[in-house]
Parts: sequence; C-alpha cells; structure tokens
Amino acid sequence: MAKLDFLGDLKRTHKCGDLRASDANQNVVLMGWVNRRRDLGGLIFIDLRDRTGITQIVFDNSSADLQTKAGDLRSEYCIAVIGKVKQREPNTINKNLPTGEIEVVAQELRLFNDSKALPFSLSDTGSVNEEVRLKYRYLDLRRPEMQANVEMRHKVTLAIRNYLSSIGFMEIETPIMTRSTPEGARDYLVPSRVHPGEFYALPQSPQIFKQILMISNCERYFQIARCFRDEDLRADRQPEFTQIDLEMTFPRQEDVFAVVEGFLAAAWAAAGHKLQGPFPKMSYDQAIQQYGIDKPDLRLPAMTEVKEAFTPENLHTLAIDPELPVVCVRIPKIGELSRKERDDLKPLLNAKSGAKMFEDFKRLEKSFPEAVAKIREKVKPEDGDLLVGVAGLPRTEKPSESKARQQAYAIFGAAGQLRLAIAQKYADRHGCFKKDDFRFLWVTDFPFFEWDENEKRWNAAHHPFTSCHERDMDKLETDPAAVRALAYDVVLNGVELGSGSIRIHRQDVQSIIFKSLGMSPEEQQQRFGFFLEALQYGTPPHGGIALGLDRIVMILAGATSLREVIPFPKTAAATDMMMDAPTPVSDRQLKELNIATRKRE
Ligand code: AMO
Repeated sequence: MAKLDFLGDLKRTHKCGDLRASDANQNVVLMGWVNRRRDLGGLIFIDLRDRTGITQIVFDNSSADLQTKAGDLRSEYCIAVIGKVKQREPNTINKNLPTGEIEVVAQELRLFNDSKALPFSLSDTGSVNEEVRLKYRYLDLRRPEMQANVEMRHKVTLAIRNYLSSIGFMEIETPIMTRSTPEGARDYLVPSRVHPGEFYALPQSPQIFKQILMISNCERYFQIARCFRDEDLRADRQPEFTQIDLEMTFPRQEDVFAVVEGFLAAAWAAAGHKLQGPFPKMSYDQAIQQYGIDKPDLRLPAMTEVKEAFTPENLHTLAIDPELPVVCVRIPKIGELSRKERDDLKPLLNAKSGAKMFEDFKRLEKSFPEAVAKIREKVKPEDGDLLVGVAGLPRTEKPSESKARQQAYAIFGAAGQLRLAIAQKYADRHGCFKKDDFRFLWVTDFPFFEWDENEKRWNAAHHPFTSCHERDMDKLETDPAAVRALAYDVVLNGVELGSGSIRIHRQDVQSIIFKSLGMSPEEQQQRFGFFLEALQYGTPPHGGIALGLDRIVMILAGATSLREVIPFPKTAAATDMMMDAPTPVSDRQLKELNIATRKRE
C-alpha cells in the first residue's frame, strides 16, 4: 500500500470546476478524486474530479519522484494537487469542459487515500445491476447523473421552502413516533420498552397533527415531512418517502390551488423551467369519461363517447350492450399498423373489464359506413391517427343504478388503460411523451366513498377527515356512491403528484362520517377520542394538501424511478442494500422490548 498523507494544514484554494484562462499562472491547491489517468510518453495526465467539475492535471518530467507517484494513481484515489495554472495551447483546448482552456501543472501530490478496484465503472451504469449500485450507493452517488439529481432535489426543496415561508407558512415538525393515522396502508410499528406490549406507529402522513395545528391557530403550516407506509412498492412508491405537506385555515379550494401552483412554479424555476398557471380543472367524473382514469395524461388527446353514432340495430349486430358507453380512443400520428401489429393490440385490453374492442375502423366502415362517418366527424382524426373503439359486452342481468354506473365506468376505465398501453407501446412513433412537456391539472369532486369488496363495506376514498359537498350530506346513508368529496388531486402527465381536501371542522359531522364508515361510537372514542374532543373548541374551517417531493424531483430529473432521486432508497422488496436492513436483532434487545419472535408460517 502506498504511503498515505494527512490533510494537515493544507487548504484547498479552488474547486475542480472553478479555474478559467483568466486564472493562468496562479498557484492553486485542488482536492478531489482521480477520474481518469493517461500516460503519454513522459507526461501523465489526471482528470481530477470534485462535486463542481473536472480539471486536467499534468505531471511533466521535471521531477522523477513526482512522476513515479503520479504513475501509481488509479481511479478514485483521493488526492490533493499543488500546482500552477497554465493556459492550454489552442490545439489542446477541450471545449467540452468549462475548465477546458487550462490545466494545472503539478508541483506536489498528496495521496489521502487509495481505492480498491471499483465494483462497477462510474461512467457506464447502463449495464450495471441496480442492486449492485444500491449496495455501493456511496460510489453510485459519485456519478455526475446522481450528483445532479441530489443537487436538483436540494434546489427544488429549498425553492419550495422559501416560497411557502414568503407567503406566511411556518415549517413545523410533527412527531415520527406516534399513533396510527388512517391513510390506507399498513403501519410501520416501533415497540415501546417502557410500555411492554405497546407500539408507536411511524406516521403515514402528518394528517391529524396538521389539523390540530389549525385548531391551535398556526394558520399556515407546512412541513417537508418524512412519511412511512408498508405497502406494495412500485417505481413511484417507496416505503419511506417525503411529502410537501401543508394546511391552512379558512381556505376555499381555489386558495389551496393557488398556493400549490405558486410553489410548483418556484420548484420548476429552480430546475430551469417556466410554469404557466392556473392549471386546468376537471371533475373526477369528467376525468373518467374523457380519460378513463383519475390521473389523466393530457399529452394525449381525450377519448370520445360515440354511442349515438350507431343505430340500435348496429349495436345489436355488433353485439354491444346498448346501455354501456361506446368509447373511441384516438392515438395521434402512429401511422399504418400492420396486420400483426393490429392483432398485438388485442391483449392490451383488460380481459376482465367486460369490454370488447374493435380496432379496425376500415373493416367496420365497410359494414357500417354511416356510423363510422359520424364517428370521424365527431373525433376528427388526422392522417396517421389510430382509432380504437371500446364497448361493453352484452349483459345478461339488468344492474341496479349504482352498479350500472360502476359498470359504465369500468368500460371507460378499460378504454383509458388501453389508450395508455398503446401510447406507451408506440411512444417513439407519436412522440407525445416529451419529458419537458409539463401538463398539470386539478382533478376535483372525487367520490367520497370507495366500496371494499373484501370487507363488504364503504371506506373513505381520500381519508375520513375529508368534507363532503354540503348538498350530498343527506345521501351519506341513502346513496353513498353518489356522495362527492371536497377532495382534489394535482396531476402531472399521468402521475398523481398530490392529494388534499377541505376538512371536516365540526365534531358532529366528523362523528357522522366515522359512523358512515362503520365505526361504532366506542371505536371512534378509542381511536380518535382526543381529536373529536379537540374539534369542539372553536375549530376553524381548514384544508390542505400533500405532494410527493420524490415524485416531483423524479419528473424534473427525467427519471422513471423514485430510486434515482432518493439518495438511499429501498428496493422493491423494501430492503436497504447498503446497510442490509432490515435485520434480526439480538435476543437481549428483544427481551428488553418484551418481544418474542416466531418463525414465518
Ligand atoms: P396521500 O396519501 O394521497 O395524501 O399522499 C399524498 C402524496 O404523497 C405521495 N405518496 C408517495 N410517494 C412515494 N411513495 C409512496 N409510497 C407514496 N404514497 C404517497 C404521492 C401522493 O399524491 N394526508 C394526505 C394529504 C392531505 O389530505 O393533505 C395524504 O397523505 O405523491
């Protein structure tokens, strides 16, 4: 092992991205990592890297000792170079580097640390297994792409903080060791040593605390809040994630929207983009009917309901249920599809949805020229657009009114899924999915309840602290499916960025809602007694929202997984590859906590 040097009194004078031609002849001290070494007959070149960039260091043959020491350098050795800035000859200028007009001629080299051979190349990660990157995350984070993502996250977070503070929001921390809050996922639990057999829950969100802060007259609260949810993981879900969480007193929905549009504009500006507000708004029903989903991707055209183009006889001949919607999906500019490509579309339709598709409008046109002419008139396709129809298979039983609505929405849903699946498959043909085309929207008036088929009961679609529309209060018991919530989502390019609502601020209403969710008075007291009590002390009308910070940064970084923008993420199996967590703990620890473990059944 080479002899290593201490830092001692040596002070860095510049960063590796700083030096320009105007610095020529200055004596400098740079510190960083060896990005690359090249030996060129008598001259050794080192690309020295730190967070700010790269500077070329040259070891000429004026000192044999220095040359030998430089010759031993390998990638990722951590060094200091003491030397003089030299302007490069015009023919050796590197236009790709901001420091490309200069190099530093080394006079002294200090080796702080050498490095083992790397488990993967820091310049080529395309082929590296992600688990290896996560295991050696400290190396992965040295890569310029990851450095840029970490920096982007910092800038975006700072811009949001500053914006919210500038309009009177206070950042207030709420506990991490708390009681379960109902956000719909499983809790992570922390055993209490002092109270044997009892557990804290890590917060799924600061929901109740932020409402309590409104009761406490904090008026405008926000927090860059860490949340924990034990749920099935996907590319846009982590067990531990960060929300931009806020709450305000006396808000109309529009007031919450304006705050969010303001801080998103600040975040986008921090990432070098300009955002134009206000964002369009659309009700949940409109979103389902036009996009088949509650988080529409507006970069693609809306779907069109075209049943009226067909006569009842047409529908009968085509074996289409006349009561269900007939939806035309248009994917722009993907050109002629071959026979095989058309056949390949069929499996993209959800087989369980009760829907059928007819993708070949030309064939349909031969038998139903008038209907297809009317559809073309309504949908107005351009040359090269693909039209696909989705309709309901005939039903044998006549459903109840609420079931009929559900079945109609299932047809829209199947069409919406198909629309996205085709668009993703042919993304390179239509070119609609441009990464910097940011199409935000607000989706409003969500259903208040969601039917849980397993438990055979209604759940709160957002959470049980959400207000319903005043006009729907009397339907809570008679027609739960028709009750609309004062809940809203902010959606970007098909991703749900955030969700919020105007809350219930009256104890009597909160109690009715708990009851309609199947909670007995005893259970209400046991789970939320303190909250029902707090609501009785002059609670102001209040509302708020929480946005996923990780999702925002993911989109701004042009990444497709949250793991690219979270410095230390978990794998899909909720494992921390670097720390190797979770792990078993010692018997002593378990005993102290009064916990016995048993083998998995
Ligand atoms: P909700 O549960 O909809 O609302 O969460 C708000 C936003 O948080 C982000 N998010 C996640 N991001 C990464 N990984 C996850 N597992 C994950 N789960 C949620 C999403 C989502 O839109 N208390 C309410 C908000 C409110 O009513 O004010 C809440 O937490 O971007």
